[in-house]
Amino acid sequence: MQFLKVVCVNFIILQPAYLLRLYIEMEKKKILITGASKGLGLAISKKLSSEYELILHASKKESFTHIEPGSHILCADFADSQQLADFCKKLKKEHGDSLYGVINNAGLTYDKPLNFQPEREIDAMLNVNLRAPIMICKTAMKIFSLLNKGVIINISSVVGESGNAFQSVYAATKAGIVALSRSLAQEAAALNESHHIRVLSVSPGFIETDMTAGIPEQIKEKYLNLIPAKRFGNVDDVADTIAFLLSDKASYINGTNIHINGGLI
Ligand SMILES: NC(=O)c1ccc[n+]([C@@H]2O[C@H](COP(=O)([O-])OP(=O)(O)OC[C@H]3O[C@@H](n4cnc5c(N)ncnc54)[C@H](OP(=O)(O)O)[C@@H]3O)[C@@H](O)[C@H]2O)c1
Repeated sequence: MQFLKVVCVNFIILQPAYLLRLYIEMEKKKILITGASKGLGLAISKKLSSEYELILHASKKESFTHIEPGSHILCADFADSQQLADFCKKLKKEHGDSLYGVINNAGLTYDKPLNFQPEREIDAMLNVNLRAPIMICKTAMKIFSLLNKGVIINISSVVGESGNAFQSVYAATKAGIVALSRSLAQEAAALNESHHIRVLSVSPGFIETDMTAGIPEQIKEKYLNLIPAKRFGNVDDVADTIAFLLSDKASYINGTNIHINGGLI
C-alpha cells in the first residue's frame, strides 16, 4: 500500500515536470551549423545543444569525433558543387518546415602568395568559403520567408577587412561574406512585412584551432603584439558571441558585422 502511495505521488509530481520537459524539447528551435566537426563549429555546437535542436554538418561523417546527442547530421564536401546542391535540397526537404537558424561556419584556407597558388586551391576557397554560404543563405531565405522568422550568422574573418599577405583569396571570400550578410539583411526587410529575419556576420581575429595551428611561432608572436587583450582568442569567445547573437536578446542587432578579436588592429 505504502509502495502504491509513493508511486502515485511520484506520478502526480513527476508527470507535469516530464510533460513540461517534453514540451520544451518539442519547442526547441532548429539550427544548422556547418563545419561542426572541430574548431569553432564544434564549440558552437556544444554551446547551443541544450537550447536548440542541431543540424550538424562536416565534409564527411568520419570527420566527427564528437556529436551532441540528438543532433541531425548532414554532410557534404562544399568544394563539390553537386554535393552542395544536394545538401541544400536535403536541408529544405528534411528541415524546411522548422529551420530557425543557420551558422555558416565551414571554411578553409591555403596560405601562399597568389602567384604560386594553384587554381584548384583558389576554387576550393571560393566554393567552400563563399559559394556554399551563398547557396545555403538562398535555401534558408526561402524557408524563412515562408515561416516569417529566422537568423543567419555567417563567419567572416578579421582579414576580410584588414587584408593579409598570403591570404588574398581567403581574405576576398571573407570580405564577400560581410557584404553578403549586410545585403541580405536589407533584402529580408524589403521582402518581408514583419521584420523577424536577421542576417549578421562575425569576424573572429586569431582563434586557436587547427586552422591557426600551423602558423610559425615568430608570426604568432607578431600577431600577439598586435592584440591589446594580450592573448589569442579561444573557441568559446566566438561560441558565446554566436549564442548571444542567435538569441532574442540580440533581436535589434541586424545587418552588421561583429568583431571578436581582442582589439586586434
Ligand atoms: N581560427 C581562426 O583564427 C579563425 C579566424 C577567423 C575566421 N575563422 C573562420 O571560422 C570558421 C571555422 O574555422 P576553424 O578555425 O574552426 O577551422 P577548422 O578547425 O579548420 O574547421 C573547419 C571546419 O570546416 C569544415 N570544412 C573544411 N573544408 C570543407 C569542405 N571542403 N566542405 C565542407 N566542410 C569543410 C571542416 O570539416 P571537415 O572536418 O570535414 O574537413 C571543419 O568542420 C572558418 O570559416 C574560418 O575561416 C577562423
